[in-house]
Amino acid sequence: MSVATEKTAQQTAQSLTLRDLVKTYASRGRDAVTAVKGIDLDIEPGELVALLGPSGCGKTTTLRMIAGLETVTSGSIKIGDREISQLPAAKREVGVGFESYALYPPLSVRDNLLYGLKARKVKGAEQMVASISDRLEMNDLLDLRPAGLSSGQKQRVALARALVRNPPVLLLDEPLSHLDASARNRVRRELKVLQREFGYTTIVVTHDQVEALSLADRLAVMDGGVVQQFGTPDEVFDDPANLFVAGFVGEPQINVLPGVVRVDSGRARVEIGSGAGSLETAVTGVADGTHVTVGIRPQDCALSARGGDGIEATVAYFEHLLEFGLATSTVAGIEEGIVVQTPAEQTYEPEQQVTVTAAPERVYLFDKDSGERLR
Ligand SMILES: Nc1ncnc2c1ncn2[C@@H]1O[C@H](COP(=O)(O)OP(=O)(O)O)[C@@H](O)[C@H]1O
Ligand SMILES: [Mg+2]
Repeated sequence: MSVATEKTAQQTAQSLTLRDLVKTYASRGRDAVTAVKGIDLDIEPGELVALLGPSGCGKTTTLRMIAGLETVTSGSIKIGDREISQLPAAKREVGVGFESYALYPPLSVRDNLLYGLKARKVKGAEQMVASISDRLEMNDLLDLRPAGLSSGQKQRVALARALVRNPPVLLLDEPLSHLDASARNRVRRELKVLQREFGYTTIVVTHDQVEALSLADRLAVMDGGVVQQFGTPDEVFDDPANLFVAGFVGEPQINVLPGVVRVDSGRARVEIGSGAGSLETAVTGVADGTHVTVGIRPQDCALSARGGDGIEATVAYFEHLLEFGLATSTVAGIEEGIVVQTPAEQTYEPEQQVTVTAAPERVYLFDKDSGERLR
């Protein structure tokens, strides 16, 4: 990228602020659906934020409201100090990488990419297109017509088109979903590097946590039209706000078990299963005898020979993966069992008698009914 383009982009880096943003879809003859239920987000200039959540949680609706492709029911959207929620899409200075965005069929991919730049008399447009297509590994697509492209290729063109527009705010909806695994990894890395270089304030929508964790400066984890937690990947992984976030982020999935808190001379333990034992927890604010939901990540559990402090378990199933093993163990009195991530060099046999341990600060407790984190 030339120094000149980098400079203009850096100068235009803007914050993006959402305040109590709501979207209700009301169509005649159907029940109204409130897809987005009051979202607040403060995105820093040049920051890359991932909206992560299951299908139907309101990610695309949020992005479309920012882009101006969907009206806002209530709330505010600001780029820098400028309120944009009532502006037409074309006046918002937002680059949109939606796959469904139409390309002009009679033009080659190259001319599609150049189209907007030439209309705005942007200097160095050809160089810019050449450089971005090089880095997104799509030089071989430049002379093709849109009709001849596969869905993965269309996706790369849509991404390139959003990037060359050089907008202060860039919105990408599932930008890599149609690429095969190896292309996805490479394009993801390049996207991150380009975003850094250009300094675009960026939102990437994804339902793929690996993509979100590897791309994002911060994640907004969404469910049911609400942001459940907004934080860095480490904050979201290490300090989940509720059971939904704990369960959605992390692979393999966190163990979720019923438990009862026992407090003895100021120290709390949580009993798991019927007489299977207990684990110490760093949680201090829960009364003796409270029934809770316990969350422990497989990465935070360890197995030792039967005996000592911890939960008595029996190995049911052991998988040797490349960098670690996974031991699924049964525990008396709980249906779910516990999955433990074990070191690569260890091997376990079915029926092996073991004790599961975990560091007290990694034993999370959640309200049995609301799923809110107890601390
Ligand atoms: N145009 C529409 N009319 C009515 N309901 C819609 C419309 N678009 C989306 N929805 C509903 O809004 C909710 C959120 O959808 P969406 O924003 O597409 O979620 P996501 O992108 O997270 O999968 C869903 O329940 C969906 O069915
Ligand atoms: Mg969507």
